[in-house]
Amino acid sequence: MAEIKFYCTDPVPLELHKVRIVQKLDLVPVERRVRAMAEAGFNTFLLQNRDIYLDMLTDSGVNAMSDRQLAAMMVADDSYAGSATFTRLTDKLREIFGTEYFLPAHQGRAAENILAMSFVQPGSIIPMNYHFTTTKAHITRLGGQVEELISPQGVELTSSCPFKGNFDLDRLERLMADKGRRIPFVRIEAGTNLIGGQPLSLGNILAVADIVHRYGSLVVLDASLLQDNLYFIKTREEAARDLSVRQITRKIADAMDIIYFSARKLGFARGGGIALHDRALYERMRELVPMFEGFLTYGGMSVREMEAMTVGLEETMDMDVISQGPLFIRYMTEELEKLGVPVVTPAGGLGCHLDASRFLPHVRQEEYPAGALAAAAYIAGGIRGMERGTVSEQREADGSEHLASVELLRLALPRRVFTLSQVRYAVDRIKWLYDNRDLVGGLRFVQEPSSLRFFFGRMEAVSDWPDRLAQAFRRDFGDSL
Ligand code: F0G
Repeated sequence: MAEIKFYCTDPVPLELHKVRIVQKLDLVPVERRVRAMAEAGFNTFLLQNRDIYLDMLTDSGVNAMSDRQLAAMMVADDSYAGSATFTRLTDKLREIFGTEYFLPAHQGRAAENILAMSFVQPGSIIPMNYHFTTTKAHITRLGGQVEELISPQGVELTSSCPFKGNFDLDRLERLMADKGRRIPFVRIEAGTNLIGGQPLSLGNILAVADIVHRYGSLVVLDASLLQDNLYFIKTREEAARDLSVRQITRKIADAMDIIYFSARKLGFARGGGIALHDRALYERMRELVPMFEGFLTYGGMSVREMEAMTVGLEETMDMDVISQGPLFIRYMTEELEKLGVPVVTPAGGLGCHLDASRFLPHVRQEEYPAGALAAAAYIAGGIRGMERGTVSEQREADGSEHLASVELLRLALPRRVFTLSQVRYAVDRIKWLYDNRDLVGGLRFVQEPSSLRFFFGRMEAVSDWPDRLAQAFRRDFGDSL
């Protein structure tokens, strides 16, 4: 990808595609946004799309597809067994990852379920750079435990470290030496979701694989966010500069025993699965696919999505395609940083992450600053983000609150979905919110499910702050939406 310079305007990320299908959006008035937020129990998962202008909840399953993906969907081979579509997908994975076998699953967490059921038992320890919600849930459900080995820079919210997702290799070595027999596999999440889409370096990934293999355990890659990570390796890692995206991918894949992914992210489609080199490992997991997912040649996925995934995986090898997400995220993050808004730096993949602890220092963690910020961002701009803080944690067994180590609001940028002016609008409204942050108060639960409360839980504002925020909006923006 050639770097695109500008002659007389400030540089902006340039779209390397044109938009040919659009979806109309509404921006409802701020008074409606206050009501909609209350109707949704101050939980952005429970908002209705008709009330949302910019849906930045997630990039999962909502990335824009290419014309070639849509065309491929028209020639899918629908068949219970032996589908040619499945063969095309397996061949593409073999070409990209060099893996011989593929077990299809309906999405990433289904692959995690199969992995956990095949390898985790009570007392197992699964080390990883950082956990993801569904991954951890599958491991702990079966009596295993997660051990996070993120490098110390990984949890520093503002930093210039290019690879905050890296493992702490010394801790990994010690853990393998002390408890290796309880460790069936080590999971590498490239890049890391919950700490701001931060990548790992190629060097770190290969070093992890070396250590783990020396102790005889397996190395598993969660490749859901690999496309952003590939971009960061190519652009930030000196040793990888002269490698193509394809070569980087292959170097990573050759060092892995098992690669699983959510195709809602990797491959710009919907689905998932497990790619692997070894026949014995394949056979160990295989029977769970027809039992929980669907027959071995579709695994719960639509063949149309599998065709789209095949093309999407090929497109993932193209820097012009995979640069779009990180460049837009960097633009949004740096614009907010210039305006003094607290964001996670350096910009990573997946989305722009606001640091709610510094944005709303007056909201106690027990009153959910990241949840309050998610509600306030929706009221300020019709922007739907995702709380990634204490609301997303689970209470301790004694009922006490488990305070999250970081309080973030994730504003995901599904790839190629939003235009630069929409990103600028989001920056503008967030800056306005930051200047009016004293008006924002906390939240409390009114209905709290015992597990996955961030999906279904309902809250209320601790005061009339949402109305006061809307009044300030009217004062500053007049009758604007
Ligand atoms: N692993 C990672 C790193 C993920 O980010 C996700 C999903 C999964 C596994 C599970 O995959 O959703 O297909 O079952 N992340 C989504 C998100 C939900 O919004 O970040 P899935």
